[in-house]
Amino acid sequence: MIPPDLDPQKIPQHIAVIMDGNGRWATRQGLPRIAGHRQGARTLKELLRCCKDWGIKALTAYAFSTENWQRPIEEVDFLMLLFERLLRRELSQMHREGVRISFIGDLSALPKSLQTEMERSMTETLNNQAIHFTVAVNYGSRNEITRACRQVAELVQQGKLSADAVNEDIVEQHLYTVDTQPPDLLIRTSGEMRLSNFLLWQMAYTEMYFTDILWPDFDRAAFHQALLSYQKRDRRFGQVKALIPA
Ligand code: FPP
Repeated sequence: MIPPDLDPQKIPQHIAVIMDGNGRWATRQGLPRIAGHRQGARTLKELLRCCKDWGIKALTAYAFSTENWQRPIEEVDFLMLLFERLLRRELSQMHREGVRISFIGDLSALPKSLQTEMERSMTETLNNQAIHFTVAVNYGSRNEITRACRQVAELVQQGKLSADAVNEDIVEQHLYTVDTQPPDLLIRTSGEMRLSNFLLWQMAYTEMYFTDILWPDFDRAAFHQALLSYQKRDRRFGQVKALIPA
């Protein structure tokens, strides 16, 4: 099932994606921006299926950042509706296929009906093992790290933890991604080369792949290219020689 030119021993376990370029894709086709998001959602669904087929155990997608509220109200409303509609429509099939769904970010600011669907999908799929699909919504990394600091500070204030005992593991336990391995590979589409406040702590040693392809056009062939690029890299994790297999 894996393309023969990919090494099955070096398939990344966790892939993160910044799905950029939906608006530009739509504009180029003479369509409203929201048509780009609709197509982008299809691309994401295809990628999830491809990851599952190729034995990738986790996929994390940046769907809405804490900064995205500044977009036109109609676009924000459309995205919220799209998330909810997709969840209602796709949940049962994803569940059947063994997908575990998680949402990360400050979900409390989202429409109540969306929050309900999110909670339901997370609970229902909690024990699924085929692939862990995480969607970041109203997510910002600085916000996540600040929240973790606040929680740890409270533990110290309550006398449950000494300041000396605060270490990286403890901080990590207070991030949204507590039960997830860090991404091995980040893919960002549409030619932008920045992290935009996405998983800053978690991606300390993640390999980065940037492509000019707009997100709605990011198909299996494009993903295959990204994995080929990843497999050529020598992951050293700050050491001289790679000791940890990719
Ligand atoms: C970035 O493109 C894309 C978004 C902000 C929205 C991404 C959301 C989806 C693809 C829907 C996914 C659905 C689920 C359920 C997770 P852009 O609008 O910034 O494009 P531009 O840079 O060309 O303007």
